[in-house]
Order: sequence, then structure tokens, then C-alpha cells
Amino acid sequence: MAQLIDGKTFAANLRRTIAGQVAQLNRGHGITPGLAVVLVGNDPASEVYVRNKGRQTIEVGMQSFEHRLPQNTDEAQVLDLVARLNADPNVHGILVQLPLPDQINSAHVLAAIDPKKDVDGFHVINAGLLATGGKGLVPCTPLGCMMMLHDHLGDLSGLDAVVVGRSNIVGKPLAHLLLAANCTVTIAHSRSRDLPDICRKADILVAAVGRPRMIKGDWIKPGATVIDVGINRIPAPEKGEGKSRLVGDVDLASAQKHAGAITPVPGGVGPMTIACLLANTLTATCRIHGLDPSDLDAR
Ligand code: GUN
Repeated sequence: MAQLIDGKTFAANLRRTIAGQVAQLNRGHGITPGLAVVLVGNDPASEVYVRNKGRQTIEVGMQSFEHRLPQNTDEAQVLDLVARLNADPNVHGILVQLPLPDQINSAHVLAAIDPKKDVDGFHVINAGLLATGGKGLVPCTPLGCMMMLHDHLGDLSGLDAVVVGRSNIVGKPLAHLLLAANCTVTIAHSRSRDLPDICRKADILVAAVGRPRMIKGDWIKPGATVIDVGINRIPAPEKGEGKSRLVGDVDLASAQKHAGAITPVPGGVGPMTIACLLANTLTATCRIHGLDPSDLDAR
């Protein structure tokens, strides 16, 4: 049976480290990192994310600024708010919750965020820096995946990594990070031919396609490390009428018989995302103030 990689505990430890570093920044330099989150409209899933972000931001000792705008807000109003946050010295990180309502072009909004404050790492400048080996801000979920992989496997040099999924938020940035860690990287997706065979070559298999339980146990090389980024809500009539539950992109029950280690859903990659958002906010704060984040105590 595969070992389950416990993202919940990992994320809690990371947040504890960050809290210590925030306190250090505060004591030594009088700086309190500030994270601004912009939520337009009232998508229920986004409401939950934003509430959790706000709570965890405060728990690590950072300032949290929440901006809630009505569903019918137009693009110019969002751009105006982003410009004010860019100019605000108390704000070191800006996150605009996606998806945005249809009347707002997300690309325009993301492009307006100061890349130094782009703690989501979605700005084309940060995507370009990642692709060219520069020092920008890295998207949170891929960053969390890399932390768990390094923790579990140590050095990743020479390993075959297969990333199933090609989104700008997970698949593409994660492929760049794995490449930078000296893996041999294949990006596959829902239209790849012989997807099971491609997956069977992977020492590291990352599933980020958004299809519930698509990847089966017999697609997994014996002993491989499997990172399941999928969060899919499916009906769960066994829990009662109208109930649902979360499953990943990997069929966990069959995968556990083949993998060496696997991140479960829920409780794997998910909790790491907000913890990495806080890590990025700390990194952004240090860089904005000309400090080196690696000088902070990692205990
Ligand atoms: N919506 C769901 N997840 C995310 C995220 O990580 N960042 C942003 N900006 N929006 C999201």
C-alpha cells in the first residue's frame, strides 16, 4: 500500500514557520506583510476560499485586506482598485479571486497587478521569469507540489516526471519547476494518445486535468510518487440524498496498490495552496523592502 502524503500537516508546519518569520520581520525591521484579496460577486466556492485565506493570513501575523465588489462591477472599477493596491505601501501581495464575472476580462486585470505584488504568480512577467529561470513569484499550487516532492524524495535529478494537464495555473508552471529540478518532463493532457502508457513511465506523476478519478491504478509505475491536484465534487448518494464529496483526478483506491506514495484528496495538495500563498506574500514583502527572504530563520 502506498504511503499517504499528509498535506494538512505539511501545510500546518509551513504556516508555523511563516508565522515565526513574520514575527522576525516585524521585530527586526518593523514590517508587517499585508495581503489584499479582491472578490467580485458571490460565487459560493470563491467565498469559502476567500474566508479561509483571510483567516490564515491573520493567524500567521500578516495584515489581511479584503475587498468585496458586487457582481455587476465593471472592469474599470476593478482596474481602479488594483491601481490603488499597487500604490499602497501596506499591501505587499495582491490576489484577485478567479473566476471573475463575464463582463470583466481576467487577462486585463491580471496584467494590471504589479508583478512584485503578484502573489498568485499569474502575471505574464512572472510566467516568463519562471520559463527563463529568473527570480519571480511562482504560482502557489505548483510551489506546494514541489515542496511535497522534495520533502518526500529529496533530490529529483534525473527522474521521469509526467504532468497530466496543461493549465497556466498548474500544469505549465509545474512542468517548468520540475525541469528546473533536473527532471525529464513530459506534459500530457486529456487529448494525449496512449495516456496510460505515458503515465506508466513516470517516477513522478502529477494529475491536474480536472476529471474525477480519470487516472487508474494500472497507469502507475510500481513505487511511483503521485501528486493529485484535482479537486472534483461528485454526487455521493451513499451519504444521503443530494449529498456530494470531493475526489481527485486519480482513482485513489486502485492507485494506492501501485504507487509508492500519493497525496490524498481531500487533505493532500489542497491545504498547501493557501500556505504557499502566505509564503509568496512573505517573499514579496522581503523583496519589496530589499531583504533576502532566505536570511529569515527557517525554524
Ligand atoms: N480561484 C481558485 N483558486 C484560485 C487561486 O489559487 N487564485 C486565484 N486568484 N483564484 C482562484
